[in-house]
Amino acid sequence: MMIEFLFLLSAYVSFMSGNAQATDGYATDSPKNVFILAGQSNMAGRGGVIDGIWDGIIPPECKSNPFIRRLSANLSWEEATEPLHRDIDVNKTCGIGPGMAFANSVLQGDPSSGYIGLVPCAVGGTNISQWARGTDLYNQLIRRARAAVQSGGIIRALLWYQGESDTVSFEDARRYKSNLQRFLTDVRSGLQSPILPVFQVALASGEGPYVEIVRQAQLGAELPNVRCVDAKGLELQPDNLHLTAQAQVQLGEMLADAFFQTPPYPLPRNSTKA
Ligand SMILES: *[C@@H]1O[C@H](CO)[C@@H](O)[C@H](O)[C@H]1NC(C)=O
Ligand SMILES: *[C@@H]1O[C@H](CO)[C@@H](O)[C@H](O)[C@H]1NC(C)=O
Ligand SMILES: *[C@@H]1O[C@H](CO)[C@@H](O)[C@H](O)[C@H]1NC(C)=O
Ligand SMILES: *[C@@H]1O[C@H](CO)[C@@H](O)[C@H](O)[C@H]1NC(C)=O
Repeated sequence: MMIEFLFLLSAYVSFMSGNAQATDGYATDSPKNVFILAGQSNMAGRGGVIDGIWDGIIPPECKSNPFIRRLSANLSWEEATEPLHRDIDVNKTCGIGPGMAFANSVLQGDPSSGYIGLVPCAVGGTNISQWARGTDLYNQLIRRARAAVQSGGIIRALLWYQGESDTVSFEDARRYKSNLQRFLTDVRSGLQSPILPVFQVALASGEGPYVEIVRQAQLGAELPNVRCVDAKGLELQPDNLHLTAQAQVQLGEMLADAFFQTPPYPLPRNSTKA
């Protein structure tokens, strides 16, 4: 407990001091606060995509900001623009996901947070077996996450939204909880960050009948420092599978709220608590 607290405290202190180094962070092209985005289509973003065509509408909450950067597929930083996953989830049409609304909310909630770096890694239609340690997706996630902090910065959290593909077979759904926990444990050890904060999303929809089993696994994950945000009830597109752009905005803001409510970020600036 104590060690976890100290770790979180030091992360908090360095997060808050990010501001002083912001100019430097920009100069070295490397954001101080890095978030990994992974999972399947609803993380990659299908908001505004109807019949394979994105309508190009960017909600104000998802607007670009010079303080929000994106690690492109070729591992270079650039100003983040929608769709965030366009060069990662390349076989599908990407639209609005939760990432930009999340990043804008984090900036708004803590304007001193410095440059935010988003590391898109999600790929549509992938089941959790395809993310197991040693797979291409797992290796790509680790490679991109490491590259993101190669010249400074800290990985603040993994945002994970996946599981729709694991609702088709009862066996997959039943095994989801142990697969998820193994995956998260492996990512943490792969990144040498044993208590890396994880914000995962409980499904709003699924490709098969076993959505509730997967949701229960997500809501009941038993690892420390893993928080779940529930997407159930958020608006779906006519395909009944993908969140609308507005729903993705809501989800991004819910994830940011969860991020701020979690140590080391529960301390409001005006906190009078010791
Ligand atoms: C990397 O990709 C970005 C856009 O995705 C592009 O602007 C940039 O020129 C590329 N850099 C290299 C070194 O290929
Ligand atoms: C895209 O499709 C090609 C050809 O089927 C495949 O090799 C590749 O892995 C796919 N990439 C992604 C990100 O889905
Ligand atoms: C996961 O998806 C892959 C690729 O579509 C498929 O080969 C595999 O059987 C699936 N695994 C499970 C456990 O559903
Ligand atoms: C602290 O900040 C919150 C949010 O900005 C505000 O609602 C609250 O009134 C403030 N409390 C004090 C004591 O200033």
